[in-house]
Amino acid sequence: MNILLIGSGGREHALAVALAKSPQAQKLFVAPGNPGTAQVAQNVALDVADFGAVIDFCRLQNIGLVVIGPEQPLVEGIVDALEAAGIKAFGPSKAAARLEGSKGFTKDLCAKYHIPTGAYRRFAAREPALAYLREQGAPIVVKADGLAAGKGVVVALTLAEAELAVNEMFSGVFGEAGAQVVIEAYLDGEEASFFALCDGDKALAFASAQDHKRAGDGDVGPNTGGMGAYSPAPVVTPEITARVMAEIVAPTVAAMKAEGCPFKGVLFAGLMIGEGGPKLIEFNTRFGDPECQVMLARLEDDLLGLLLACAQGRLPDKVQLSDRTALTVVLAAQNYPAAPKQGGLISGVEQAERIEGVSVTHAGTKRVDGKLVANGGRVLNVTALADDVAQAQALAYRGVAAIDFPEGFYRRDIGWRAVGR
Ligand code: AMP
Ligand code: GLY
Repeated sequence: MNILLIGSGGREHALAVALAKSPQAQKLFVAPGNPGTAQVAQNVALDVADFGAVIDFCRLQNIGLVVIGPEQPLVEGIVDALEAAGIKAFGPSKAAARLEGSKGFTKDLCAKYHIPTGAYRRFAAREPALAYLREQGAPIVVKADGLAAGKGVVVALTLAEAELAVNEMFSGVFGEAGAQVVIEAYLDGEEASFFALCDGDKALAFASAQDHKRAGDGDVGPNTGGMGAYSPAPVVTPEITARVMAEIVAPTVAAMKAEGCPFKGVLFAGLMIGEGGPKLIEFNTRFGDPECQVMLARLEDDLLGLLLACAQGRLPDKVQLSDRTALTVVLAAQNYPAAPKQGGLISGVEQAERIEGVSVTHAGTKRVDGKLVANGGRVLNVTALADDVAQAQALAYRGVAAIDFPEGFYRRDIGWRAVGR
């Protein structure tokens, strides 16, 4: 089968590596891809926002499955367009992608179907939102309703911060995404990410992971797309997994079906695990980046077979993942996330990959005159698989040490929480 993978990050390089390994895979294309995906697939310069062009390409290349990495095309309806043209796709429809595209939609669904999450109210105007804030007090969380490139959430520790956030959102700093605002109770506990594969009808627990959102060691500094991750997350015990599936994932899949927008694809639940058990912080409707890199490092089943089963409504009952731990360290360009420095020279990737148990995925890189240079915020991911998290951490940092990227930086404490346990 010929496959088209959409996206260009570290997540997509990891997906491409796993898809290329499938015995069912014939030609693998990645649009637009990166220098990493070019090693295992053919990159194509398609404008992925132009669904007509994507459909024409699929017909020309006899594509049997389109796998969509990032959220934007999902929220814009690429799966609907492909399916209407008779092309199979892995990912949710536009209506189902509202689980990521509209925080208010998700909160209303949770309320209607008794899915555990923080108490909340939705607002379309500034004054009532400010009044509600004053009534609730801090800490409190203010969220732009729509997609805001990971910047639309303010965890306000004081009322003044919360008021500032509401004022900014209604002044249009996030454009349409901030036209509606969700104000939510602050949840206490330990955060974890949980992934389930869904075929519209059923859900299958895939894996847990923990991300490191802040740019600096010790979880300080600005929020980023994620500076490193590991899987599994020890806080997601078998008991917690069972509760997440029974109380959050399965009810959501059933609710989406009942609402007439069945969810197919990967459901990424951001969880807060506190005293009362797991609560939903937010859903994403795609694999996390870099969570995907660590989960796929553990996957022992055929990824293409699993994604096809989701797309065709015939999810298997189980999936085989190694019980070893995978850990990824993200190498970012200096000054990420504000204004990452572009063009920094990178060498040593091959040396890192020669270390047993280490792999490197490309995110924001490009080749200029045969040399690898930084071309984005998050640039490379170094992933290690080992018997436990401490060994995976040590091995990943050996890989990092083999890479020379003077204009880059990375966190030196990825995995601290799990290593400390
Ligand atoms: P994101 O929406 O992924 O950009 O991240 C938002 C981050 O804000 C989460 O990863 C949490 O750390 C935090 N957060 C969101 N909602 C809450 C909440 N209700 N209580 C506490 N922290 C939250
Ligand atoms: N690493 C978080 C995300 O992909 O949303």
